[in-house]
Amino acid sequence: LCIGVLYGGRSAEREVSLNSGEAVYQALVAAGYKKVVKIDVGYDLVEQLKAQKVELAFPVLHGKYGEDGTLQGLLEMMDIPYTGSGVLSSALAMNKIVTKKIFTLEGIPTPDFTVVTRRQVLDQGLEAVAKEALAKMGVPVVVKANTQGSTIGISFVHKEEEMASAIESALKYDSDVLIEEYIEGMEVTASILGNENPVALPLIEITSVTGVYDYQAKYTPGMSHHIIPPGLPEEVQEKIKNLAVRAFQSLGCRGLGRVDFMVGEKGIYTLEINTLPGMTGTSLFPDAARYAGIEFPEVADRLVKLALE
Ligand code: DAL
Ligand code: MG
Repeated sequence: LCIGVLYGGRSAEREVSLNSGEAVYQALVAAGYKKVVKIDVGYDLVEQLKAQKVELAFPVLHGKYGEDGTLQGLLEMMDIPYTGSGVLSSALAMNKIVTKKIFTLEGIPTPDFTVVTRRQVLDQGLEAVAKEALAKMGVPVVVKANTQGSTIGISFVHKEEEMASAIESALKYDSDVLIEEYIEGMEVTASILGNENPVALPLIEITSVTGVYDYQAKYTPGMSHHIIPPGLPEEVQEKIKNLAVRAFQSLGCRGLGRVDFMVGEKGIYTLEINTLPGMTGTSLFPDAARYAGIEFPEVADRLVKLALE
């Protein structure tokens, strides 16, 4: 079996993916797979897949053209099996707004939100749109580019006068902007493994040296800490794990995923699902697996087997 680790790519998370992909490549080799090739995904992907005779693809791309269903569609068309979620689930999960609409329909608690589009900003002007959003949501809120990862295009708005520039920053990455109620509390994440019967790995509480878990905090060693298990009662942890599995299933995800939560005074809030979570040295998913006694080569091996189920 020739496995192609697809990594790099051309999203804003390219650098993260290069690190994640290298880790997965090493893990597959350590797991005993003889033929593993790395492909930095570019315009020549189809030629590369053919030239290297890839029989199973292992996408480790974050963001656009990798995590968003586009790559999965191409692999389907080429009859190449692949690890992780399919076309629709990947596309849904990449879209934070659609994800939250599905969560709402499914009764999965998610912070209140409103949406601002580039069209509205062009038609009504930035200030008017910002004012309208403030009237609906107040402050504090989190302003997010709809389809980005790794906290790129995200601003925390604590003062009303920061809203317009937050919307403007998010619009650099996406034509749709999610404005979400800010939940004060603990950031917790649930890593998931499995297909039809997915299981949640041990939860991780995240703390950041600067107080915000942003790109720098995520990928600079020492800038954030993973606390396993989190400082939460056992029954709350069980609730979060159940919600994580329900969220994973609500989008029809497969293989792996990571569901992010905020735990505030008023309860548990589900933020989003990452269908290709980071696998770098500072990432959460490998840590959760390790705590569960599953070393990374075994994670990689299981994902290959889940892909062939
Ligand atoms: N989007 C990054 C890679 C993550 O969720 O880990
Ligand atoms: Mg994400």
